[in-house]
Amino acid sequence: MDMIDQLKEEHRQMRLMFKDLSHLADQDSPIPIFETSVKIDRLGNLWDKHEEKEERFFKNLQQLKINFPFERMVIEHREIRGHWRVIQKAIDSKDNNKLRIALDTDGRMFIEKLTKHMVYEEMHFDEIQPTKQHLNIN
Ligand SMILES: [Fe+2]
Ligand SMILES: [Fe+2]
Repeated sequence: MDMIDQLKEEHRQMRLMFKDLSHLADQDSPIPIFETSVKIDRLGNLWDKHEEKEERFFKNLQQLKINFPFERMVIEHREIRGHWRVIQKAIDSKDNNKLRIALDTDGRMFIEKLTKHMVYEEMHFDEIQPTKQHLNIN
């Protein structure tokens, strides 16, 4: 699988995890902290690796002078990570109410922003696909 296909596949996996995460914030009963932290960790591990891989890939694109919104994507990564940290802190506090508020605010923002970010990235991936094949980069 080439790099773009790999990144798209990881996007797909993350989107599946979003559904799980947004359900947690919707329940009326206290939010299960352990279950939430397992889900958050699973998504976080995938996202960390994905981001690292992407930023390396974006640098390659930049060096090859391929038109790609490199800086904007990296800024968005940092911005999205800010919402992530709020959720992580709420989990660490082990306070159900804090966690509910965090999932309801930063959790939703996280999912919304990352979803848009991935759509935007994929739009640009599709644009560079022919160039990439021509240059044979991975
Ligand atoms: Fe990204
Ligand atoms: Fe991505």
